[in-house]
Amino acid sequence: MKKMTKIIAAVMALVLLVSITACGKSGLTLEDIKADGKLIVATNSEFPPFEYKDGDAVVGFDMDLCAYIAKEIGVTMEVLDIAFEDVIANIQSGSAHIGAAGMTVKPDRLQNVDFSDTYFKASQVIILKEDAAFTATSELKNMNIGVQDGTTGADYVRENIKEPMGFASGALAIEAMKAGQIDCVIIDNYPAIEFVKKNPGLKVYETPLTVEEYAIAIPKNSPELVEVINKVIKDLTANGEFDKLLEKYELK
Ligand code: ARG
Repeated sequence: MKKMTKIIAAVMALVLLVSITACGKSGLTLEDIKADGKLIVATNSEFPPFEYKDGDAVVGFDMDLCAYIAKEIGVTMEVLDIAFEDVIANIQSGSAHIGAAGMTVKPDRLQNVDFSDTYFKASQVIILKEDAAFTATSELKNMNIGVQDGTTGADYVRENIKEPMGFASGALAIEAMKAGQIDCVIIDNYPAIEFVKKNPGLKVYETPLTVEEYAIAIPKNSPELVEVINKVIKDLTANGEFDKLLEKYELK
């Protein structure tokens, strides 16, 4: 190879290397979101009171929280309402900017997204038919257990009890229980209360099976975004708005 060709080849290799490295490192900036003109929030509206449908609109605690985040960034907010198990992949692919879905911080999820500061403590509980004789969690191993696909409830059952029966939503799992296809549903505590309110003849066995904390999911390597979301959580906590939101959705 001629000397010039060698130099050109070396420079090209370097450029390629630098761009690959940059690709791996750069997440989402506030400029990116402003350029899109809106904050796209991935959620799954099957999780009252954190996210649920009111007519065509997706509303709930998480949506109110994200409206504050959008305002802080200076854009409007748009909801991408998808299956819960697809939320993280849509953040990774760039179809959504963040995820707000009552999402529990978990080590395996941290490999694919980052999380904001946590904003809510939760646990898994058991929903049963009111007339079910149930006195101890040790009885779960003899029962057919329904869960929402892709959730920490599903993980808990799989890792500690047995293979659960997965449903696209908690509501569908409840329907299956009412129809006698499963014996109980394991799901987050506040959604459990909401499901029981809406479905007479059910009860919550309140002994918590897990201890979990919710946070906003953020693309990896997006420090500005982490900072602005944590700032909103801190500000709302300091000025009392966070408590008002908790009261609005009967979360305290
Ligand atoms: N906290 C549980 C988890 O992170 C369940 C969340 C379900 N959220 C929803 N919007 N459906 O796995």
